[in-house]
Amino acid sequence: MTPAAESAPAVTLRPQRPSDLPLLVGGDTKFDDFGPLAPSPHPAPSRLDDAGALTVVDERDQVAGEISWHWRGWGPNAGSRCAMIGIWVRPEHRGRGLGAAAQRRVVELFFAHTNVNRVEAHTDVENVAEQRALERAGFTREGVTRGAQWRDGAYRDGVLYAILRSDR
Ligand SMILES: CC(C)(COP(=O)(O)OP(=O)(O)OC[C@H]1O[C@@H](n2cnc3c(N)ncnc32)[C@H](O)[C@@H]1OP(=O)(O)O)[C@@H](O)C(=O)NCCC(=O)NCCS
Repeated sequence: MTPAAESAPAVTLRPQRPSDLPLLVGGDTKFDDFGPLAPSPHPAPSRLDDAGALTVVDERDQVAGEISWHWRGWGPNAGSRCAMIGIWVRPEHRGRGLGAAAQRRVVELFFAHTNVNRVEAHTDVENVAEQRALERAGFTREGVTRGAQWRDGAYRDGVLYAILRSDR
């Protein structure tokens, strides 16, 4: 076990419940992709093979955030598809390692329950907290995606991260 995994907090990912939705509003930082502030009208699908999301629950059974994903293709055949994950941790739960632990956990789910070879994440070049959390979760920084994401009225550079089945 790596030192980071040894000190990781216990985290559970479970399907979203209607009572979670008001707690998963986002919109508090410029990197937050989950705004505007209104809660989602219904729980997200939790089937890994579709776009979906799971609620992140901490060791005290508190709703700590949300981890979501969609699918991207690097070629026309299904074997070249990969999951792209995103995360939002409630502000009062940040800095405890939950972001890294939840991203590590969802990667385990993808490799255990789908045949995907690669799980990706993409974040703003200035989002150092997410870059650190991804690196602690075992992702490799692959490069800068210039002008890839429209945010805050401009095209912004991002950083692409990925973890392969063979990396674990
Ligand atoms: C990014 C986010 C998911 C991280 O979640 P978290 O539970 O706080 O993450 P962790 O505690 O696992 O790790 C955070 C790491 O970033 C570091 N960090 C936190 N804030 C930081 C900052 N402003 N600048 C630099 N590093 C920072 C922490 O020290 C920690 O690094 P360490 O492992 O070296 O100690 C959370 O901040 C969040 O939800 N932000 C808003 C939404 C968002 O940006 N999502 C990602 C979109 S791509």
